[in-house]
Amino acid sequence: MQQTLPTGIERVLITPDDIAAAIRRIAAEVARDYAGGSLVLVGVLKGAVFVTADLARAIADVPDGPVDVQLDFIAVSSYGNAHRSSGEVRLVQDTTHAIEGRHVLIVEDIVDNGHTLHYLRAMLGNRQPASLRAAVLLDKPYRRAVDVPVEYVGLTCPDEFVVGYGLDYQERYRTLPYIAKLRPEVLPA
Ligand code: IMP
Ligand code: MG
Repeated sequence: MQQTLPTGIERVLITPDDIAAAIRRIAAEVARDYAGGSLVLVGVLKGAVFVTADLARAIADVPDGPVDVQLDFIAVSSYGNAHRSSGEVRLVQDTTHAIEGRHVLIVEDIVDNGHTLHYLRAMLGNRQPASLRAAVLLDKPYRRAVDVPVEYVGLTCPDEFVVGYGLDYQERYRTLPYIAKLRPEVLPA
């Protein structure tokens, strides 16, 4: 279907249907692994807001999944230039509930160099959760600078800077229903 793309968007890389299917696959695995138990999803603001909401509901849709899924959020920022994060990650907003003794699943939009997830795993892991895993919608495994485990991966992301479905460039494009490639001339050289 021909569609008019917003200014700055070159092309759609991952459609809403592909995103929904990837989230359903993750939900099925999570529901199986935590069947009958309780689980806290910790979404990483702001990028993972849509994936966290959609994953939570998809888990609830799986019969015989976890009996109890709670939502919490955390916000981090990483320094670097506008489209590349540095190794320096800072906590901006903590979870509202303690996670000690809880089964915790970090939900991220994308893992790129890995510093953000590495920081979050170390920080939350220090709080004695019953278990700690991570689910990400998109993975750029070829870009990893730190080795960090990711238990649930939706899709491998093409080697492009992507926006949409929560992902931004300078706070723009988050509300697009698809994942898209930015026009290179928009990004700084
Ligand atoms: P990492 O610390 O390099 O793994 O990057 C994680 C964070 O960088 C993600 O949560 C995103 O906010 C951001 N990021 C990495 N790659 C992209 C991209 O292609 N588009 C938009 N944001 C990205
Ligand atoms: Mg993010």
